[in-house]
Amino acid sequence: MAKKLIVGNWKMHPATLADAKKLFDAVKRKVTGVRNAEVAIAPPALFLGVLTERYKGKTIAFCGQDAFFEQEGAYTGEVSPEQLKSVGVRYCIIGHSERRALGEGDETVNRKLRSVMARGLTPILCVGESERDDDGAYLSFVSAQIRRGLVDVPLAEVKNIIIAYEPVWAIGKSAESAMKPRDMHEMKLYIYKLLVERYGESVAKRVRILYGGSVEGSNASAILTESAVDGFLVGHASLSAESFAQIARSISKTR
Ligand code: PGA
Repeated sequence: MAKKLIVGNWKMHPATLADAKKLFDAVKRKVTGVRNAEVAIAPPALFLGVLTERYKGKTIAFCGQDAFFEQEGAYTGEVSPEQLKSVGVRYCIIGHSERRALGEGDETVNRKLRSVMARGLTPILCVGESERDDDGAYLSFVSAQIRRGLVDVPLAEVKNIIIAYEPVWAIGKSAESAMKPRDMHEMKLYIYKLLVERYGESVAKRVRILYGGSVEGSNASAILTESAVDGFLVGHASLSAESFAQIARSISKTR
């Protein structure tokens, strides 16, 4: 099994390039020495090239927050997988709920996912329901998002995909509002089972399943040990180098 992964999604922060450099340098200092975990940062696209240029180390990988489904052309405002790759990006978040809230549907998510894979980047496909109900409709919702997100992905490539389960109701709150570890465990098993049914056990075993939604230093260990997730997609806590490093250290302590 691949190492556990922690991805810091900076979203549209910080406000300036100078602040982005400062934050990156602080993260770099704090995560040096973190073992048994892969660490990735997803800064705003505009700052990616500058940060990858500055950083020659190996501890931190870079991640896009989104990518367009074409590689080049007249698409004002978009960033292509090819461009991300050219500045040294390895991962790319696809279908984050904040993009879906702006109107991105499953079909677009799927096109983006395949486009990113075509350039050899590793997609982090985000799925997750907006609310929980007593009848389990959230399970079929998540199952449909995964099925539609993976349309036309060749079997041999499915193992390279990472799935980030991020229930929308738990995003951007505080540790108390994060998903309960036991519920995340259930979700992890559910997603794993879906993948086994569609792609077989040997492929399913290799797909890393992350949790995202108010992961902070104080709840990371419990979620990791009780839910057996393969890592985290971290939003607000990644804007503090210390909190982010604390989460990274929890991962490196959990084998
Ligand atoms: P949060 O964000 O950690 O602030 O909840 C997670 C995300 O949106 O990826």
